[in-house]
Amino acid sequence: MVSSSVFSSKLPDVGTTIFTVMSRRATEQGAVNVGQGFPDYEIDPRLAACVTEAVAAGFNQYAPMEGNVALRAAIAAKIVAAGGRQTDPETEITISCGGTESIYSAIQAVVTPGSEAIVFDPSYDAYDPAIRLAGGRCVHIPLEAPHFRYDWERVRAAVNDRTRLVIINNPHNPACTVATAADLDELAIVTRDRPIHVLGDEVYEHVLYDGRVHQSVINHEELRERSFAVYSFGKTLHITGWRVGYCVAPPLLTRELRKVHQFNAFSIAAPLQAAIRLYLERHPDAWRDVAAFFSAKRDLLLANLAGSGLTLPPAAGSYFQLADYGALGDGFAKLTDVEFTEKLINEAGVAVIPLSPFYREPPAQQRVVRLCVAKRDSTLTEAAARIKAYTGASGANASGAGRR
Ligand SMILES: Cc1ncc(COP(=O)(O)O)c(C=O)c1O
Repeated sequence: MVSSSVFSSKLPDVGTTIFTVMSRRATEQGAVNVGQGFPDYEIDPRLAACVTEAVAAGFNQYAPMEGNVALRAAIAAKIVAAGGRQTDPETEITISCGGTESIYSAIQAVVTPGSEAIVFDPSYDAYDPAIRLAGGRCVHIPLEAPHFRYDWERVRAAVNDRTRLVIINNPHNPACTVATAADLDELAIVTRDRPIHVLGDEVYEHVLYDGRVHQSVINHEELRERSFAVYSFGKTLHITGWRVGYCVAPPLLTRELRKVHQFNAFSIAAPLQAAIRLYLERHPDAWRDVAAFFSAKRDLLLANLAGSGLTLPPAAGSYFQLADYGALGDGFAKLTDVEFTEKLINEAGVAVIPLSPFYREPPAQQRVVRLCVAKRDSTLTEAAARIKAYTGASGANASGAGRR
């Protein structure tokens, strides 16, 4: 056995993700879980029936490495139906193990030892370790508080001859913001005439609120030639546990991505791919109501949290909602977000996610936590009722009052 004094971890600072930790704690405490991003409601029974049908139809052996051919054709049709460009399913679309595997494979395909990749903090936790495993350096640029805006001057200053990748998550988890057409134009200018690729993490492509329109890197005239765009049926069809996502990229990039994918996941669960394809063929508009569905849930949560003392800038996109507890009074405001989250789970019985783990250097004064709205209405109202009872009972003096 190799002793720990000899073994040298490649990711010594990486522990279990905050999402897993909080879900585990929620189960242990019997807390209402509005932390980790997964639906707690039933999936469409017609989609569930498609799995049985796919298994009976014999989709039980290795799927093609690139993904089920008919599913890729259905995805290409969906992209056009959503107002996007024509893509060649044969050379530009690859099915992956969730969006996560596409992110990992794209990073491994283009980040080389000694090169740099830029991410925007707060950033989804899968980016940094994958960049480091590729031998690259992850450069973290903060989004500007309090509105989490891109500071393109700062990006320009960070770009150098070693830069190989910029990751842009749109809609953004956890900031709940949406990139504008002007943001993508700025990104095009920053990367122009440089050997820099773009990874558009667009898993929340259909979750935009209040009439906002998704700006995809694959529809941007200039960016699309250098971009990977990553999607997730987990988010769009409410099936995070199926682990089916995909990457859209020009043929050259797709070829490189597949070189990684084929020795990693190799291919994705055949009956699940076949089931999604059947479902999309029968219900080609299934994704169209996703924004309205989550928008109603966001509004329900916001309405039920009114009077809680939390500051709640309505989410522009993603299936999360941020809550700032800084105005709750000294008893709360002096707590770090991790401490506040701990108190909430222990004393109010509600699991939420602190924002600081999404940063390399969390802003000292930030007092913000993330709630997931992809939950049953009853989960959202119960979570809100518990939070309100707790903050109301505790008032400005959280040190003793209101424990439960
Ligand atoms: C921003 C972002 N990117 C990627 C993913 C991963 O998607 P999947 O569950 O399909 O792997 C998630 C999941 O929460 C996410 O929030």
